[in-house]
Amino acid sequence: ARSNTAAKAAGKLYFGSATDNPFLDEDATYKAILSDNTLFGQLSPENAMKWDATEPEQGVFTFTNGDVIVALAQANGQIMRGHNTVWGSQLPSWVSDSGFDNATLISVMQNHVSTVIGHYKGQIWDVVNEPFNDDGTLASNVFFETIGPTYIDLALQAASAADPNAKLYINDFNIEGEGAKATAMENLVTDLKSRGIPIDGIGLESHFILGEIPTTLQAQMEAFTALGVEVAVTELDIRMTLPETDALLAQQQTDYQTVVSACTAVADCVGVSALTLVICHLLRSTDKYSWVPSTFAGQGDADPWDENLEMKPAYDGIIAGF
Ligand code: XIL
Repeated sequence: ARSNTAAKAAGKLYFGSATDNPFLDEDATYKAILSDNTLFGQLSPENAMKWDATEPEQGVFTFTNGDVIVALAQANGQIMRGHNTVWGSQLPSWVSDSGFDNATLISVMQNHVSTVIGHYKGQIWDVVNEPFNDDGTLASNVFFETIGPTYIDLALQAASAADPNAKLYINDFNIEGEGAKATAMENLVTDLKSRGIPIDGIGLESHFILGEIPTTLQAQMEAFTALGVEVAVTELDIRMTLPETDALLAQQQTDYQTVVSACTAVADCVGVSALTLVICHLLRSTDKYSWVPSTFAGQGDADPWDENLEMKPAYDGIIAGF
């Protein structure tokens, strides 16, 4: 069975993957797997549309790498998730260390959001990325420190103005189960909707640890969709402490199934049109190109395809989950 075909049969919009340009250019086998729309119905750029990649110098926009991924998705009949426009990380120093005053940074941010989303129309977009700390307070970044909490409103409004048809998301991690951070996201979305600020969805990054899938995952997805937005699993990976064993791979299979089953079980969102399904998406897909080992010491093998680009037991878990 094929993951995107299975997702669609389960009534979901897609099963997708993030990807990055060097691997696409360098690895034909990888590219062929990624291009198979029975496996992946959606692509997302892991780095190519971030601020440091798209506006490395003020007012100088470079879309080359992102355009390569969009062209590939279009050739394969895959939809795109844009990632991301406003985030405290992967910022060029002309933004993060600028000392811009409030009015200037607002204009810089609005120009960035509208230019990038204006270039990449018709996508789902992570407009604001990782706005919260784990305790539910807003994370300190140049936008929050200079503009205050309204940077989120202004980013979403700029995105909506640039492309009224884009699906606008806020994306974060550690909001996949009940807790202070998830509650803070609920409160933010409630507040945005009450004030008429455009918001369509909440992205659950879902960087999980093997054996530690939140037991409240489905309940938390339902709490979010009850607010009248859709949810998406946006960057799913399930890392283990190395070395890999058959028992760990079996647990990982179960865990992938648990996550996909939660996605499958959560119905269309409340008060949103029929196309707004709960959607799944997968980070980079293969252990060959995972961000995990360089980020979490001693951990890895978090993805459904292995270093040889072969399907792992985790893949069977995905299929079983749909
Ligand atoms: C990561 C990429 O995978 C790395 O290649 C890059 O060096 C750093 O960013 N949350 C996100 C993603 O929203 O953009 C991050 O991606 C992983 C954590």
